[in-house]
Amino acid sequence: MSEALPFDEKYSDGLQRYIDYYNKSVEDIEEFWDGRARELIWIRYWDQVLDRSNPPFYRWFVGGYTNINLNALDRWVGKSSENKVAYYWIGEDDSKRTISYGELYREVNRFAYVLKEYIGVSRGDTVTIYLPMIPELPISMLALTRLGAIHSVVFSGFSSGALADRIVDAKSKVVITADGFYRRGNIVNLKDRVDEAILDAGEKGVDVEKVIVVKRLDGNIKMHLNRDIWYHELLSEAPNKVYVKPAEMKAIDTLFILYTSGTTGKPKGIMHSIGGYMTYIYNVFRWNWDPSPEDIYWCAADIGWITGHTYIVYAPLMHNMTSIMYEGAPDHPKPDRIWRIIEEYSVSTFYTSPTLLRLLMKYGDKWVENIDLSSLKILGTVGEPINPEVWRWYFNKIGGGRCPIVDTWWQTETGAAMISPAPGLSLVPLKPGSATLPLPGIVADVVREDGGKAEPGEKGYLVIKEPWPGMLMGLWGDPARYIEVYWSRYSDQDRGVWIYYPADYALRDGDGYFWMLGRADEVLKVAGHRIGTIELEDAIISHPAVSEAAVVGFPDPVKGELPVAVVTLKMGVEPSEELADEIKDYVRKFIGPIATPKKVIFVSKLPKTRSGKIMRRIIISMLQGKPIGDVSTLEDPKAVEELEEAIEGMRHTF
Ligand code: WTA
Repeated sequence: MSEALPFDEKYSDGLQRYIDYYNKSVEDIEEFWDGRARELIWIRYWDQVLDRSNPPFYRWFVGGYTNINLNALDRWVGKSSENKVAYYWIGEDDSKRTISYGELYREVNRFAYVLKEYIGVSRGDTVTIYLPMIPELPISMLALTRLGAIHSVVFSGFSSGALADRIVDAKSKVVITADGFYRRGNIVNLKDRVDEAILDAGEKGVDVEKVIVVKRLDGNIKMHLNRDIWYHELLSEAPNKVYVKPAEMKAIDTLFILYTSGTTGKPKGIMHSIGGYMTYIYNVFRWNWDPSPEDIYWCAADIGWITGHTYIVYAPLMHNMTSIMYEGAPDHPKPDRIWRIIEEYSVSTFYTSPTLLRLLMKYGDKWVENIDLSSLKILGTVGEPINPEVWRWYFNKIGGGRCPIVDTWWQTETGAAMISPAPGLSLVPLKPGSATLPLPGIVADVVREDGGKAEPGEKGYLVIKEPWPGMLMGLWGDPARYIEVYWSRYSDQDRGVWIYYPADYALRDGDGYFWMLGRADEVLKVAGHRIGTIELEDAIISHPAVSEAAVVGFPDPVKGELPVAVVTLKMGVEPSEELADEIKDYVRKFIGPIATPKKVIFVSKLPKTRSGKIMRRIIISMLQGKPIGDVSTLEDPKAVEELEEAIEGMRHTF
């Protein structure tokens, strides 16, 4: 698995230097993070770096006070850094906006002012943000955190139903949204979905009182009297140079909630802390991208996901970076859109997902050939394992063999990268497809089913053995699920041993490098987005014609995997192609386009164990044309025969 890249020689001493630094960092993680946190601005320093008294509810920088605005914004104003561009924003329709740190600061203060004075938002309130990729999204996040309110950003591609669930769970009384936005040249009517979601949420007992609407399009939408208010009208109430003092927040207070999928139908509200998250992402950003003042940095994710929270909003602002923010589809109007933006803005650091790379690679090299990409210095990927072949294309074709590929393994729960190369510290030799080594302060390992250490080269489960500042603080409103999901599998609670379980397969090679091998639970990664199979099944089952459903992932050359649903119908309903399409469309509307099943397969019975558990493993093997293995626990072998026939019958359509 070891493979020397010509480029490695440049970094031949990188490995030893890195290992020395790493070893020192984990000798005493409290001391290590104490030092790292002092590089930031605090209102009051902490009494204790890490409170381990109530595991797994670890608390970082206890007794400390701060506000993330102090580090992301206030720090840069009143001096030359104020004039630096924070965001070059590019609309899909090619409209443009340039926002300096000074402008961002003033707009955040004005918005915070009206949120407080006119909307009544205060410390600890939860506000749902449902915005496309426009500058008002980071502005809203910062204005809320300035007041000490907690934001819950919902990805603008989610349906009204998914939005309603998240509003209800977070008990948000205020929603910030837009009239709509452009996607692939079409108009998405975001506000219609909000209206529907609010009705839905009301029925579930949460009444949204105020909706603030940013005008991104022509504003030709229905506004509800007394409830809806235009962002620009609201903002015009704020004095021009108003200053809102950042709320003095405890380091252990919640900065935001971000919902992500797990193994039940109910999304989990991941909670991040202010002090710990801020400290972690600040340091990891520097290790990942080796930032320098003249860099033009572009993380091409959506702020609706954790990658955008950390790597488009908070961490780059904390480094006074200039970022690109792009609203639209990566291949619109043509497959060279991304490369043209890199050329036009002389982007130096580019961070994206393997899915996007596979898509652009598929379009062919002709879309890259005449574009000057010489400004690039570092390239990154996140979200799924990257195939070595795609890695090489990225390295050679896009990076011209000059740019390290920073493959970052992490999760919504971890705040920022955990396992990845660190060119900002000391670049280790790279291996295509490996996320390399854990970052400083991170104690990671690979274990067997029974918790014993896996041998080099042996596939096992990734575990994290020490807490880290970017870790989630818990699940919103569900502490028991937090312990159950992340801390029960390998912890020995009686002996006081607590081990974090991310639910990822991994192996370590002979050099100790980590190779991430995909999810080990019933969570799919579709185009890098996390979707729970049970969430999909719940959506399908709510269709009036459906009795039962089993969803599994089917490998896809571009999107990594796509959901395939095996469905039984209610008595008297006949399967048909129209019904299959209707179910696909139904899921699309129920969750969002990213969840649309690739196939719906009808059977009269699902393969289940005698105790009634759906045997997804059998479905996966069959779909992939592999032997189905042990079926001794199967309740009815006929179910397997029927499924096999159904799959073979439609194999040519896959
Ligand atoms: C997967 C995204 C391989 C992994 C930041 C993890 C990866 C899940 C990588 C979290 C990578 C993320 N290599 N797999 N570099 N990065 N993953 O919460 O399965 O959307 O558990 O966070 O993505 O997905 P999430």
